[in-house]
Amino acid sequence: EQAEIGLIGLGVMGANLALNIAEKGNKIAVFNRTTEVTKKFYADAGALQGQIIPCETMEDFIKAIRPPRPIIIMIKAGDPVDQQMELLKPYLSSGDIMIDAGNANFRDTMRRFKSLEGSDLTFIGMGVSGGEEGARHGPSIMVGGTEDSWKRVEKVLTSISAKFNGEPCVDWLGPNGAGHFVKTIHNGIEYADMQMIAEIYGILRDGLGMSAPEIGGVFGRWNEGRLDSYLMEISEKVLKANDPITGKPMVDIIVDSAGQKGTGKWSVIEAQNMGVAATAIEAAVAGRVISSLRSERQAAEKILGKPALVDRPKDGMAFLADLELALLAAKIGAYAQGFAVMAEASKEFGWNLPMPTIAKIWRAGCIIRSQFLDEITSAFTKDPNVANLIVTPAFSQLVKETDGALRRIVSYAALNGLPAPALTSALSYFDAYRRGRGTANLIQAQRDFFGAHGFDRLDCVDKHHGPWGSGLADFA
Ligand code: 6PG
Repeated sequence: EQAEIGLIGLGVMGANLALNIAEKGNKIAVFNRTTEVTKKFYADAGALQGQIIPCETMEDFIKAIRPPRPIIIMIKAGDPVDQQMELLKPYLSSGDIMIDAGNANFRDTMRRFKSLEGSDLTFIGMGVSGGEEGARHGPSIMVGGTEDSWKRVEKVLTSISAKFNGEPCVDWLGPNGAGHFVKTIHNGIEYADMQMIAEIYGILRDGLGMSAPEIGGVFGRWNEGRLDSYLMEISEKVLKANDPITGKPMVDIIVDSAGQKGTGKWSVIEAQNMGVAATAIEAAVAGRVISSLRSERQAAEKILGKPALVDRPKDGMAFLADLELALLAAKIGAYAQGFAVMAEASKEFGWNLPMPTIAKIWRAGCIIRSQFLDEITSAFTKDPNVANLIVTPAFSQLVKETDGALRRIVSYAALNGLPAPALTSALSYFDAYRRGRGTANLIQAQRDFFGAHGFDRLDCVDKHHGPWGSGLADFA
C-alpha cells in the first residue's frame, strides 16, 4: 500500500509531525538527508511503524507515495528549502505538490510559486504553529496554495490538526503566500502577547516587589478568567518553577536578553510597507531588540540611574484587578492591529483572506491559542468586513470596559519608570483611532509651509495653500 503523503526532514518538528500523521491512521513515507536519522526515527516509532515507510533514497521515497504526491518539506527556512526543491524536482511528476511547512518569509513562498508557474508541479506554503507538542499532537495549520492542492491534502491535515470544540484548526486561507503570511502575523501577535505579559510581570516584580512564584499565582488566577490562554498558562508554570541547581526561581537565573528568528520583524516590515499601524507589535519587536543590548543597558543604568519608584498602589487588590483588565485591553489592541495588517494584505495581494476562519483556526493548537480568539471568531463571523476589530459591537464594548484600567496602569508604569512600551502603544492606538478630529492638520500645514505640499480644507473651499507665502523665504 502506498503512502498518502511524504515528509522530508526528520528534525524535531518534522519527526513530530510525521508521528502525528502516522498516529492519525495515515500512511506516511519519510526521508532525511542523513540516513542514520531516518533509521533512528523508524526504530523509535514503536507501534506506529506499520504506518511509516522509511526511505533511504529519493527514488524509493517517491515510489512509496500515491500520486499526485503531497510532500511536506520541514527543514530550516531560507536557502535550504530552495536547494531541497531543486533536488526533489527531477523525481516528481505531474500534479505533485511540494509543501513548505517551515516558517518561511511569505515573499520567498510567492517566489517559489512563481518559479513553478508553467510547470505541472504545485506548491503549498503552510504555516504550522504549536511548537513540538503541537506538531506531535495537534498544531494549528494555515494553508496557502490552489484549492485543488488543498483538496488533495485536506483529509490528512484535518486528521492531524488541533480541534477546538471538535472543529479542526486547519483551513485553506488563500492562494500562494496567504498561509505563510498569516503565520507571520500570528507570530507578530505572539510577540506582542509575550511582551505584554512580560511588561505586567515587570510591574509586579519591580513595582510591587513580588516574587516569581507570587506572580505565577496571579497569572494562574487570571488564566481562569477572560485571559485564559496558553501563554498565560505557561507563564504561570515557568514563574513557579525552581532551578534544580540553585533552588531559586528559574526565571530569576535566566539572562534578560530575548532572541528572535525574524517572523515578528517581518510582520512589522510588511505592516509598514502597506501603511498599517501595528504599533503594539512594533513595540514588542523593539522590546526584544533593547533586551538584547544587555551590557549597554547596564552601563546606561550606571550613568542615568534607574527611575525611582514614586508611587505605591494604595489598594493592592484593586491594582491587580486593573492589571488584569489592562492586559485584556492591550491584547485587544494588538490583535486588532494584526487583523488590520491581514485585511490590508488581503487587498494588496488579492488573497481574499477569511478573517473569521483565521480567528477560528487559531483557537487551539497554536501558541496564541485562547478563549479570547473564540470571541474574535464570533465578532468577525458577524461582521467579516468590519474596518477594525475594535469597532465591532462586542469589542467596542470590551474596550469601553477595560481602557480605563489600561490608562491607570500605563500611567502607573510611566510615573514609576517601569518600561511598558507595548501596553502604552496599545493605549495610544485606541486613543488616536477613536479621535474624530486629530492633530495632523498641523502636520499638513507644516508640510505645506516648507514644501508647498498643499492640503484639503474642511469647508471644501478651493484654496489649498496657506497664507505663508513660500516657506523657502525663511532660508534667506
Ligand atoms: C509557533 C511559533 C514558532 C516560532 C517561534 C518564533 O507558532 O509554533 O511561532 O513557529 O518558531 O515561536 O520564534 P522566535 O521567538 O524565535 O522568533
